Amino acid sequence: MIFVWLPLTLLSQITIYIVQSAPALMPAPARAPVLPAYEIVKPGCIPTCGGLVVPYPFGTSKGCYLENKASSFFINCSDHTPRLGKSSIPVLNITLDDHHIHILIPAARICYNDITAKFREYSVALRLSKFQVNSTLNKFTVIGCSTLALITGKRAQNYTTGCASVCDRVESVVDGSCSGIGCCQTSLPIGARDFEVTFQVYNNSILADIPCSSAFVAEQGFYNFSSSDLITFEKRSFPVMLDWAVGNQTCAIAKKNKASYACVAPDSTCIDSEYGKGTGYRCYCPSGYHGNPYLINGCIGMSIDLFLCHIIIIQRAMLFIIAIEY
Ligand SMILES: *[C@@H]1O[C@H](CO)[C@@H](O)[C@H](O)[C@H]1NC(C)=O
Ligand SMILES: *[C@@H]1O[C@H](CO)[C@@H](O)[C@H](O)[C@H]1NC(C)=O
Ligand SMILES: *[C@@H]1O[C@H](CO)[C@@H](O)[C@H](O)[C@H]1NC(C)=O
Ligand SMILES: *[C@@H]1O[C@H](CO)[C@@H](O)[C@H](O)[C@H]1NC(C)=O
Ligand SMILES: *[C@@H]1O[C@H](CO)[C@@H](O)[C@H](O)[C@H]1NC(C)=O
Ligand SMILES: *[C@@H]1O[C@H](CO)[C@@H](O)[C@H](O)[C@H]1NC(C)=O
Ligand SMILES: *[C@@H]1O[C@H](CO)[C@@H](O)[C@H](O)[C@H]1NC(C)=O
Repeated sequence: MIFVWLPLTLLSQITIYIVQSAPALMPAPARAPVLPAYEIVKPGCIPTCGGLVVPYPFGTSKGCYLENKASSFFINCSDHTPRLGKSSIPVLNITLDDHHIHILIPAARICYNDITAKFREYSVALRLSKFQVNSTLNKFTVIGCSTLALITGKRAQNYTTGCASVCDRVESVVDGSCSGIGCCQTSLPIGARDFEVTFQVYNNSILADIPCSSAFVAEQGFYNFSSSDLITFEKRSFPVMLDWAVGNQTCAIAKKNKASYACVAPDSTCIDSEYGKGTGYRCYCPSGYHGNPYLINGCIGMSIDLFLCHIIIIQRAMLFIIAIEY
């Protein structure tokens, strides 16, 4: 079979083309999400919330999401904004292939009032019952001129880390550079399921024109430091990327209980969560297929589409060769 020898990169490009070109043929109403070609939710369940596609194991109503004690896979859509579980945290999107959820978390802030000689603090904490903050793709950033901000957690592990940002005047600060002058950045520990941001600011070193400091966790690439942010940061929120997995057992143990094993698509594969004991597993469609391995008919093949594409490509290649030869 000659067809098998196409490079993998080409295969994935072809898939993307096929999946995305189909809905374009039927113009959807403005802002309606583009539904993927595969089965997304259980029969009878609503596949979207606001502009977001909510794939199973997530779901917006009882019976439509994977049950666990904390309702981790429930997406509250009561005000047409997707919110995570029983919290009010907005969900930006959910991905099946790399098992990420992007949520929106506000920045913590502290301001010193010269007149009252008091601090006003807006603190921020996130507590997840199941998912982890991805430590590779999120960073903790602190903005200020006499600021030590700490980030602590105690759910999966007890940790405290922090970052200090110092500057003597706005002019000494370099835009884009987060290396301790006006802005400081650090990583979170691996597997953190919670964080709380607190400040230690000293009122005797506060610059009159920079009374506020901010600190936040944000997905990499969503914040570029600008010296003007020292003065006009205001209230802002940033996307935070979480890793998700199902169950609380390893694949080997989960597979033994057919009734609760989540990888239900035929031939789907199971991989243990990288976070270890009690953090569950993830399902993947068999190679050559894509979609939702958490549903029986969730994985769709690309063999027929690819077969057609191959014929076209091979015909084009032959035409090309003929054109060169003559
Ligand atoms: C694992 O999940 C099952 C089902 O949600 C639950 O009954 C059980 O208590 C959980 N076990 C642990 C150790 O959390
Ligand atoms: C969903 O969110 C609304 C507020 O937006 C809240 O009143 C309701 O209790 C939430 N539902 C659940 C099941 O948590
Ligand atoms: C999900 O949201 C994040 C943050 O807004 C964005 O970077 C990412 O590209 C989105 N992914 C998808 C598949 O829409
Ligand atoms: C974070 O996300 C990346 C990209 O999907 C993934 O490779 C990695 O395993 C995730 N977890 C950690 C702890 O970095
Ligand atoms: C964190 O520390 C507290 C108090 O020292 C302790 O009770 C708790 O078990 C610790 N948590 C973890 C996950 O180690
Ligand atoms: C700093 O705070 C202390 C006690 O809260 C107060 O006595 C002092 O006046 C403040 N200093 C400045 C420069 O505001
Ligand atoms: C940050 O800067 C980089 C490179 O200059 C740019 O590609 C990116 O779009 C910027 N991101 C934001 C959120 O401004």
